[in-house]
Formats: sequence, C-alpha cells, structure tokens
Amino acid sequence: MKRIITAITLLALASGALAADNYLNISSGKTSLVLKANVGEEVQTIYFGPTLADINDAVGGSTFTTPAYPAFGHSTLKYHTNNKDYAIAATHADGNMSLSLAVESISYVQEASATVTRILTKDTVYPFYVTLCYRTFTDSDVIEAWTEIENKEKKTVLLRRFDSLYLPFLKGDSWISTMYGDWSDESRLQEYPVPQGEFSVFNRDGIRNSQSSHAEVMISLDGKPSEKHGAVLGAALCYSGNYQLRTIKGDRHQRNRIDKFFAGIDPCEIAYPLAPKELFVTPKVAFAYSLEGKGGVTRSFHDWARGHQMIHGKDTRMVLLNSWEGVYFDVNEPKMAEMMKDAKTLGGELFVMDDGWFGRGEFSRNDGNSGLGDWFVDKKKLPHGIPWLVDQANRTGIKFGIWIEPEMANTKSELYTKHPDWILNAPGRNVIEGRGTQVILNLGLPAVQDYVFGIVDGLKKENPDLAYIKWDCNMQLASFGVSDKTPEAQAKLYIDYHKGLESVCERIRAKYPDMVIQACASGGGRANYGTLKYFDEFWASDNSDAYQRIYIQWGTSMFFTAQTMAAHISASPNHQTGRIMPLSYRAAVAMSGRLGIELLPSQMTAEEYELCKKCVSDYKSIRNIVQLGDLYRLVSPYENKGLASLMYVSKDKSEAVFYEWEMEHLTEQGTPRVKLDGLDPARRYRITRLASIDGKAHRLEGKVFSGAYLMNTGIEGIFYWDGRDKAHGFGSCVLKLTAE
Ligand code: GLA
Repeated sequence: MKRIITAITLLALASGALAADNYLNISSGKTSLVLKANVGEEVQTIYFGPTLADINDAVGGSTFTTPAYPAFGHSTLKYHTNNKDYAIAATHADGNMSLSLAVESISYVQEASATVTRILTKDTVYPFYVTLCYRTFTDSDVIEAWTEIENKEKKTVLLRRFDSLYLPFLKGDSWISTMYGDWSDESRLQEYPVPQGEFSVFNRDGIRNSQSSHAEVMISLDGKPSEKHGAVLGAALCYSGNYQLRTIKGDRHQRNRIDKFFAGIDPCEIAYPLAPKELFVTPKVAFAYSLEGKGGVTRSFHDWARGHQMIHGKDTRMVLLNSWEGVYFDVNEPKMAEMMKDAKTLGGELFVMDDGWFGRGEFSRNDGNSGLGDWFVDKKKLPHGIPWLVDQANRTGIKFGIWIEPEMANTKSELYTKHPDWILNAPGRNVIEGRGTQVILNLGLPAVQDYVFGIVDGLKKENPDLAYIKWDCNMQLASFGVSDKTPEAQAKLYIDYHKGLESVCERIRAKYPDMVIQACASGGGRANYGTLKYFDEFWASDNSDAYQRIYIQWGTSMFFTAQTMAAHISASPNHQTGRIMPLSYRAAVAMSGRLGIELLPSQMTAEEYELCKKCVSDYKSIRNIVQLGDLYRLVSPYENKGLASLMYVSKDKSEAVFYEWEMEHLTEQGTPRVKLDGLDPARRYRITRLASIDGKAHRLEGKVFSGAYLMNTGIEGIFYWDGRDKAHGFGSCVLKLTAE
C-alpha cells in the first residue's frame, strides 16, 4: 500500500519569507545522501557517504556543492556550468537545446518498509518536468534512485540523455571494480584506478546486457580495493537493456574536490522522442556506501535484493538436473524418463528438459537452424506430448521444467513465414541472422507481447504442474530497425523492446507468481537486477568448467546472491574446456551457488554417482546457509595464491560453510592459511567435512574452535594434507561449521 504523506510546496521560501535553506537527508541504514532543495533553485548534493548522526556536519562541512541532477545547458546556480558533465539533455521543439531545472515541490510516499522522496523540478522557461525520486528503507543500507521526466510542452521534445542518477565522490586514490567478459567467460573481475577523463562501462547489445560487461560497479575510495577495509560505493542499474555507467575525473573539479559517477540507459546516439504528455520513467539505480570494503557492499546488496528486489528473494531454490549437456538436441521420451529417474535417485527435486523438444515437419528443432517460434511439441521425438512428461515427473516424485526462447524465431519456422513483419529489422534491408538462422521478434509490438505471453500461458494451461521455465535469449540485436517506418518508432526501438519485455514479465508474474523462471542468455547475458525482479535465477555461464567457474562466480557474487547463480556439476572432460577434474572439485564449486547437475548420469562411474548423490544430500543440509546467508570472500582467485576460498555464514551466526579450491598444482607449493570471517568470535564451532573426494574425513573433522581463533589465526590450506587428487590436482574442501 502506498500513501503520500506530505506534500510541501515551498512557496514561502521562494518568496523570500524564510531565509533558511531546505536540506533533505536521504538515508538508508549505513548510507546517506544530503540534498539542498530550495524552491526556485536547482537541487544540489552536499553530502554522500556513511550515515551522519547530525546533518549539520554535512551542511557545515560543505563536502560537495554540486547539482544533484545536472541538466545540459543552464543552471539556476551561479558558478555552475552543467555543459560538460550532465545527467539529462533535451532539445525542445523550437530548437533550444538547454534545460534549467528548479525545485517546485517535495513530497513523500510512505510504503511498507520504505519512503520515497520525490523532488519535483521544472524547467524555468518550458513546461518540462523532472522528478528526482529516492527510495530509502527501514531495513536496508541501499538507496534506490530514478527520475521521472514529463513533457507538458505542446510538441515532442527530444531526450538526448536521461540518466537515472548522478553521484559525486571525493577525489582521492579511487579504484573501480567492474565485471567484464565474454560468452563463456562472463563476470571477470577487473579493477583499476579511476582514470583521468571520462571512463564508461557500457553495453549496447540491445537485448541482453551482461555478457560483455555488467551494469554494476564498485568504486573503492581509499585506494586499492579490499574485501574488508575502506570506503566503497556500490551501484547497480536495475535494467536489462543498454546502459552506460560513467566516471568522470576532470581537472576542472578541483574546487569541489569531487569526481563524478553517472548511471543510466545508454542513449546510443539516438534522441528519444518524448511526445506531449508522455512520462518517461528511467530504470532505478540501487546504490550503497560501505566502510567495510567490497564485502560490505556485497552483503548490503544481497540483503536488499532478497528483501526488496528479487522475486522469491527469501526462498531457496531447488536442486535440478538439466538435459542440455547430457543429450543436447537429442531429446526423446525414453531418455527424458531415464534422466528424471536419475535426477530423483541423485536427490534432485526438479528435471529440466532443455532445447530440442519443439518444431514440426521441416522445421523440427534438431540444431540451431530451425524451429524457434514454433512452440508445438515435436511428436516424432515426444509422441505423448508435454503432459506425458509432466505426468512421468509426478510419478517419479520430482518437478518438471522446460526450455523456451520466446523472444526469438528462426527464419526457418512457421512463425516467420506467417509474421515476417514481427522481426527486428529496418524496412528494405535483408535481416541478419544469428545462431543458425535466428532472428529477434520486436517485443515493442503489442501483438508480439501477446504472443510471447501466450507461449508461457499456453504451456501452463496445458500443464498446470509445470514448475520451472528456462527462458533463453541467444542473440544480440544485429539488424537495427522495426517494420513501422515512422522515425519515432525507429528511435524508440531499444527502449520499447525492454518496456515490452517488462510488460510481458508483469503479466506472467501476475498470473503465475509461484513458477520458477530462469533467465538464460547464452549463459550469463541477463545477470542484472532488472531481470531478477521477474526471474528467480540466471545461468551464470555456458561454461560449466568448475575451474573457470570459480572466476565467473567470484565476479558474479559481487552483487548477486548464491540463490540466483545456477551452478551445475557437469561432465569430465568438460565440454567447453576439455579439462579433466574430479567430481569432488566440480561439486565443491557448484555447491557454492544454486546447485544443479548437467550431464548424463548414466555416464558417471558408480563411484562418481555415489559421490554426486552424497553431494546433493550434503548441499541440502547447507542450502539455507549458502542461499540465504552472508557471503565473505576470503582468498581471491585473482590474487594467484594457489587457492581460492569463500564462506557463507547464517544470519544468526550459528552455522557457516567454508570452501577452498585449489587453483594451482605445484609440488611443495606454499598456500596461505585462510582466515575465516563473519563468525561470532565468542562462539565455538564444530567442523564437519562435506563433499569429500574419497569419503576421507578432514584432519580437523569433529574438532571445535572458537570463532575468534578461526578468524584471527585461520586454518591451513588443505592441499598437502587431504583432498588432493594427485593425478590431476584440483583439491577442494567444503567444511560445515556448527556452533555448539
Ligand atoms: C543456450 C543456453 C544453453 C542451452 C542452449 C540450448 O546456449 O545458454 O544452456 O540452453 O542455449 O540451445
């Protein structure tokens, strides 16, 4: 329930009756943003940092004096020129390219555990309105910010930039941490000093947005990024389309001693035509400030996400077996039935039939060349249809899930033959095909939105017990353009696509709130907080190699919880890298995320099968801690110390799970003792080993240590003692800690 509790029109201030400045302390838990918002003036940020007990510190200390949302071309404030670094730019119908925004009024909307502060500003000449919105929580350290832009002019205004947020940060030895990568190598953590000039992290894929770079960054303000120490600003744009996150370190900001951070949709050189009366709402940015290093930002984001952003954020996820790396397109009834039985025997709770089950006749889906768009079961492969499979799953005692890629078509499909105008492509041009003969449907069209909703709705109507959908998206925008020839429709493509996607997701969630949906986009192409509002999890990478996954999952964990990070035990040799790894290592890595299995169980040795079963059962005993607990990253794989290590601690600190993975395999190599974190120093914890390679107990098995000892002195690296596969390396260790 939302309720507007205050609406202050500060006319008195404007007329000069009151001399005092009006300050707003926008504060969530450990994070504060202090704004000066005088009627008739541009809003200013005067402080951003750790929460202040007394706002007078910010006022007296004049930490910053900078426009809160700089608009291109003009400012009501003397000495401020917004022309160089700005959050918003617009061209009015008469050709005037400037904006000058001044406060009109401030209001507050009370929500269940949050307050939204809305600062309405208006151009001093034109009826053009921008509302700066900030949501603060009673139970989170994160602040959400977005802007609402409304054109009350008589003609269309062209928006040339429309960021969601601008934040200043103090000049110093600041470093940026970004997640960068590629297909099969997503979320690689990269850290470097914030460079002089303008630096931007951006994505212009058009459809997915996190395969090559992520819409989340951390900025460490006290020198080289540390997991435990120093001031760190973290920000995540909650959006699945093109974005740009910019830092600006300019020599002209010396007077204010600040550098700048902007976040928003990437305008991509395309001015967005905002029609008269149209309201444009930017995606929100979530941001937090921590004095406990990157780890502090991570935990603030994980808590905020579980409580306020993710669908089913407080729930754990099922252990599943996915058919893809087991059988690829070679789907048929006997194989599916066999895999379901194995999934059950191994302790799985869900079986997911991946690609290859649909398309008919000449368009049957046997590879990437045909069938997308034709969501009818291929009766040659599955003569009894999906209901038979769901029934089979029910009899086996597990749930059933299915793969779809509803935003796409193949040019070799019945759908494409019927609706060539539904495809994204500029009129008159040949369409560029992606994987096989793949093309993208224009989700900006209401008819396509209905069709995409209908795919999910149709499957659910036919199979009410369908518990899970893996929603894939395997193509970036290649042919820019829509069939509608108006310049407005062309210019709005990027944004309309994502509005369309959100609207379909809203409809699906309104009707099917409980269904589990995975966002897959050739692996981790849709790992962002826009997606997680509707999707329970994402497939972190098509690369299922446990060793490389340590890097991928490390970067992903900066902002995302283990619940959201699908991590599967796959075959050895691994299908992507050819690497041979013991099952214990593959399991120990997958068990640090949302555990699943992705292989043909009948191809495992009897020993592997038994160990896999044990790992699933062990995982269930720690699932709550892993998926809902606090993450502490201990030794980074990026530090080349021969091992990587992290741990999860339950909220009440009564239980924890500790992971160590061997990263190098050198005889007599020294590895560091690992100091644990996040435990209660005063409590004593008993150690039990999980997922053991050979069933051997750990040398610390059953021993009890104080939290203080484990955190201050730590435990020795495992690899010389036990858990080491001498032939191949890849020692690993998963320990459960239980408070006595
Ligand atoms: C993508 C996904 C894989 C699998 C295939 C099926 O590549 O990332 O997990 O589902 O599509 O075609």
